[in-house]
Amino acid sequence: MPERLAEMLLDLWTPLIILWITLPPCIYMAPMNQSQVLMSGSPLELNSLGEEQRILNRSKRGWVWNQMFVLEEFSGPEPILVGRLHTDLDPGSKKIKYILSGDGAGTIFQINDVTGDIHAIKRLDREEKAEYTLTAQAVDWETSKPLEPPSEFIIKVQDINDNAPEFLNGPYHATVPEMSILGTSVTNVTATDADDPVYGNSAKLVYSILEGQPYFSIEPETAIIKTALPNMDREAKEEYLVVIQAKDMGGHSGGLSGTTTLTVTLTDVNDNPPKFAQSLYHFSVPEDVVLGTAIGRVKANDQDIGENAQSSYDIIDGDGTALFEITSDAQAQDGIIRLRKPLDFETKKSYTLKVEAANVHIDPRFSGRGPFKDTATVKIVVEDADEPPVFSSPTYLLEVHENAALNSVIGQVTARDPDITSSPIRFSIDRHTDLERQFNINADDGKITLATPLDRELSVWHNITIIATEIRNHSQISRVPVAIKVLDVNDNAPEFASEYEAFLCENGKPGQVIQTVSAMDKDEPKNGHYFLYSLLPEMVNNPNFTIKKNEDNSLSILAKHNGFNRQKQEVYLLPIVISDSGNPPLSSTSTLTIRVCGCSNDGVVQSCNVEAYVLPIGLSMGALIAILACIILLLVIVVLFVTLRRHKNEPLIIKDDEDVRENIIRYDDEGGGEEDTEAFDIATLQNPDGINGFLPHYRRGLLGGISQDAV
Ligand SMILES: *[C@@H]1O[C@H](CO)[C@@H](O)[C@H](O)[C@H]1NC(C)=O
Ligand SMILES: *[C@@H]1O[C@H](CO)[C@@H](O)[C@H](O)[C@H]1NC(C)=O
Repeated sequence: MPERLAEMLLDLWTPLIILWITLPPCIYMAPMNQSQVLMSGSPLELNSLGEEQRILNRSKRGWVWNQMFVLEEFSGPEPILVGRLHTDLDPGSKKIKYILSGDGAGTIFQINDVTGDIHAIKRLDREEKAEYTLTAQAVDWETSKPLEPPSEFIIKVQDINDNAPEFLNGPYHATVPEMSILGTSVTNVTATDADDPVYGNSAKLVYSILEGQPYFSIEPETAIIKTALPNMDREAKEEYLVVIQAKDMGGHSGGLSGTTTLTVTLTDVNDNPPKFAQSLYHFSVPEDVVLGTAIGRVKANDQDIGENAQSSYDIIDGDGTALFEITSDAQAQDGIIRLRKPLDFETKKSYTLKVEAANVHIDPRFSGRGPFKDTATVKIVVEDADEPPVFSSPTYLLEVHENAALNSVIGQVTARDPDITSSPIRFSIDRHTDLERQFNINADDGKITLATPLDRELSVWHNITIIATEIRNHSQISRVPVAIKVLDVNDNAPEFASEYEAFLCENGKPGQVIQTVSAMDKDEPKNGHYFLYSLLPEMVNNPNFTIKKNEDNSLSILAKHNGFNRQKQEVYLLPIVISDSGNPPLSSTSTLTIRVCGCSNDGVVQSCNVEAYVLPIGLSMGALIAILACIILLLVIVVLFVTLRRHKNEPLIIKDDEDVRENIIRYDDEGGGEEDTEAFDIATLQNPDGINGFLPHYRRGLLGGISQDAV
């Protein structure tokens, strides 16, 4: 009966080799009992899975004809029948032979060439190779001629639950903040199962916790691990070991399982305040310790770690708040007390400070637990140290008049030994600062006296250093700078600020300003200089010049008339008395030289010489030298000419020989002979009138003056 039903089905696929599927595709066409009968010898009968589940799984695959199934890991006494090949060719007329080739043909799968039964002769492992592709063919038994084209089919290895779940990434580590609320997610883990995930429950995993309760829980399906207790305290227990199991077959008994470990570390939150290790600290410090020196350290412990344990330290009270400071050492998490201002054992021997440590990073969730700070008391004892002398002032400024008498006292420095065993002190001058030994000091009382005369105009400041030495301990030395300022005394008379030379235009008007002069005085009176100018008493009624003081302390010299003529008088000397406003005042007389010159109409000086030629103003040096050279050449020619004429006994322009002689005698000191005429300007000789105003002493100066002026 089953054979016949099968043959009926096969008739539908006439020319092909029909693959006799282990599980008939017609699960809806035939009752399950029947298909099992059809699959006589099929290994599926050995499948331990419930029928219902298998049908559900299989139904997903659809209709695939050319497949056979074989159960993995089967090891019975006989080879397992996988399926049977069959052709609808008439077996009566010809003898048919079935041939198998492809994956594992002959080695794993063996075919009975007469019946077409395929057996697996080896144990199969789905996890190693899940399917085999084979080719089947029906040939004539005698001729081996193919009766059909070859046909390909697949043998699938069917899964059994032969693999346990595995945690490939384990063991695991995770962190969760301490004090977390119940149910806070920690992490999740994943196990894998090598069995077929789409067939059966062999790979259906369920997670559970074996160890680690009651602190943690796991969600069976998702493997999400959560806290199972609220407010776990890191300071009480920091690390938890959780053992997690994954079991396949949906967790049912008989399933395989794997385990892993998860180490959960609680991370810190700031739930603990700082607390000083001691409520009272004692430190001692020598009074002469350098500013900034660390005097001691205080530490507030904090059960938290990292930044949650960080505290900042402050001095919040005490009698030494101005002298000491505290800095926070983030590394050591302590506070360092340092000296900020100098100590003095003789003034105050101990200090008390109230220091506070306060957490830097406060967690508002725990601020209700009280202040996250603590205080402690610090007592600092000052120790005596042998100190050098102390001057009554850090610097001294002394003043002395420049005319102070030798050995007069300029000032005094004082110093004392601050120690209780107060030693007497001796003073001395650091001679490197007083190389000229300008001053002396009384070793006992510190009085500074003048050793050599002072001159303010030479040096205003004498900055020296005084040394104080303790007599009982010569190594205790102090130095102090003493600046001695020399005060001005009116010991210099004023004088012209420079050498003035004035020029007066012949054609100038009465009242014209010839020159403005100013005066200088080396002294430096407090209220500045005020100069008084006057003419010499015998010159007060000078008919030629007058003076007028200007607002800016300078003086203008004015011409009184316009009758100046350089032919008449070439140079005037005007002595001027300048007096300062010192007490008593000092004065001196300076003489101004005024030269009479020829000027252009607009008052530009053109010639200050009595010679007739006009000096063009603004000539270059070269041009002037050329002109002078010409003049000299001309003179030489004239002299030669005169000499020649003399030799010829011809009279000069001046006819009277005696006149000439008289002139010569009058102007030449030694009155040397006839040759002397050569030394005189011919023009002067030509014009006896000019002789009146001719001053021999200024002869040289005049020539010099012109060349100077021209330059
Ligand atoms: C001396 O000291 C005074 C006051 O400190 C200062 O003004 C002056 O410049 C100093 N003079 C010299 C030459 O160092
Ligand atoms: C004034 O000038 C005239 C010539 O111009 C001269 O004789 C007289 O001595 C001068 N007086 C004084 C005080 O210089």
